[in-house]
Amino acid sequence: MNNDIERVLYSQDDIKAACQRLGADITRDYAGKKPLFIGVLKGVIFFMTDLLRELDFLADIDFIDVSSYHGGTASTGEITLVHDIDTDISGRDVVVIEDILDSGRTLAYLRERLSERNPKSLKVCTLLDKPEGRVVEAKADYVGFNVPNEFLVGYGLDYVEYYRNLPYVGVLKPEVYAN
Ligand code: IMP
Ligand code: MG
Repeated sequence: MNNDIERVLYSQDDIKAACQRLGADITRDYAGKKPLFIGVLKGVIFFMTDLLRELDFLADIDFIDVSSYHGGTASTGEITLVHDIDTDISGRDVVVIEDILDSGRTLAYLRERLSERNPKSLKVCTLLDKPEGRVVEAKADYVGFNVPNEFLVGYGLDYVEYYRNLPYVGVLKPEVYAN
């Protein structure tokens, strides 16, 4: 698996430092509020478990699954809801956690679907932000790293469902997806 990686962009140490920084920011902003953290499956699971262990206050978690990719390295544009949360978010402080913000379509869709359920507040935390990929307007409130417009894998990010379990974020060798 490691042989398919052209270069490492963020090491395990880089990611840990980012989780500590974001965790401190979120702890400062949400202490005493008991927010609900909603993770966007599946890519978020590694980041979510590391980030949430940096928080020092009561919080609960739920998951939502939307799909925009259908197996390739480019988004198709259409978002479908695969699995909804089962928590009632009306009147709640909600923080959506994402692995990466690219075209912005997933986040725009989630903001729309979640806002209509009247949360008290709705913020977004993403490990990676790829601003050059943006097609629709979307902004995260907490960002780990701004990344170049390349296809990344690891630490939750997949290429056709593989490479999620790499412990770092890297760039896949182009010949891997040329095949
Ligand atoms: P968006 O809707 O285009 O903003 O994309 C968000 C989703 O696309 C993320 O949650 C990822 O699942 C996926 N994605 C975007 N860029 C990459 C990448 O570089 N590698 C792997 N998955 C990506
Ligand atoms: Mg994905």
